[in-house]
Amino acid sequence: MKLAVGQIEPQICNVEENLTRVKSILEEAEKADVDVLVLPELCNSGYVFNEISEATDSAESIPEGPFSKELLAWSRSGRLVVAGICERTSDGLYNSAAVFGDGEHIITYRKIHLFLNEADWFKAGQDEPPVIEYEGYRFGVMICFDWIFPEVARVLALKGSQVILPPANLVLPYCQDAMITRSIENRVFTATANRIGTERGVKFSGLSQITDIKGNRLCQMSNGKAGIASVTIDPMLADNKSITARNDVFADRFPGLYTRITQDD
Ligand code: ACM
Repeated sequence: MKLAVGQIEPQICNVEENLTRVKSILEEAEKADVDVLVLPELCNSGYVFNEISEATDSAESIPEGPFSKELLAWSRSGRLVVAGICERTSDGLYNSAAVFGDGEHIITYRKIHLFLNEADWFKAGQDEPPVIEYEGYRFGVMICFDWIFPEVARVLALKGSQVILPPANLVLPYCQDAMITRSIENRVFTATANRIGTERGVKFSGLSQITDIKGNRLCQMSNGKAGIASVTIDPMLADNKSITARNDVFADRFPGLYTRITQDD
C-alpha cells in the first residue's frame, strides 16, 4: 500500500488559491499512484484568524463544499484521502478531518484538543477519534495537537488502528519527534501531514513524515517546500504487538492500575 503525506502552504482566508494548491498535490499524488493520502489541517482556510468571521467565511460544509467535492472526486479511483477542513455546521465551526474513500464521504473527525486561539473559533469535538476500515486495512484519525495526549493514539491503536493519519498545522517543535514515540509505544505506523510557511507572524514547521511501527522515519519532507512524500508499507505489521520474546505492548498492560487517566481530576 502506497502511503503519502502532502505538504502545502495555505493562504489565510483565500479559499480559491488554497483549492488550487490542494489540486496540485492531488495531481502529484495521482501521478505517483498513491493509495492513501493525508493533507494538512485547515487546508481550505489557513490557520491564524483575526476574527471569527474570517473562519466562518472560509469554512465549508462536508461533504457539500468545494474541497470535499475535489477530494471525493480524487478518491473515486480506489483511493483514500484524509484532509483537514475548516468545517461549517448548523451547530458552529469545527476544526475537522474529513475522510473520503472510493468516492464516498466515510467519516468526519472533529478535533478534540484545541490549541491556543482555536478555542475562539471552533467548538471542541465530542466524539472518540475514529478508526476506519479501507481495503482490508485499519486507519485511525486524529488532528495535530491531539498528539500531545498519548491517550488519543492509544485509543486509536486499541481500536485496531494500524496506521494513524494526522493532518497538522504544527507550531511547537516537538510533534514530529513525539510521533516516533507514539509509533513505538503502540506499534503503529503514523503519517503526519503538516503545513509550511509563516502566516501573520506564526511559523509552521513542515517536516511532514511517515514513521513505522518501530519508530523509524520512513520519509521526512523539508520545512520549506510543498509537495508529497510517499512510501510503500505493509499495515499488517502493526498487528504484531510483541516487543520481546516475553513482552507485548498491549497484552502486558495493567489497565486497572491506570484508571486515574480516565478520571476528571
Ligand atoms: C495545532 O494543533 N494546530 C498546533
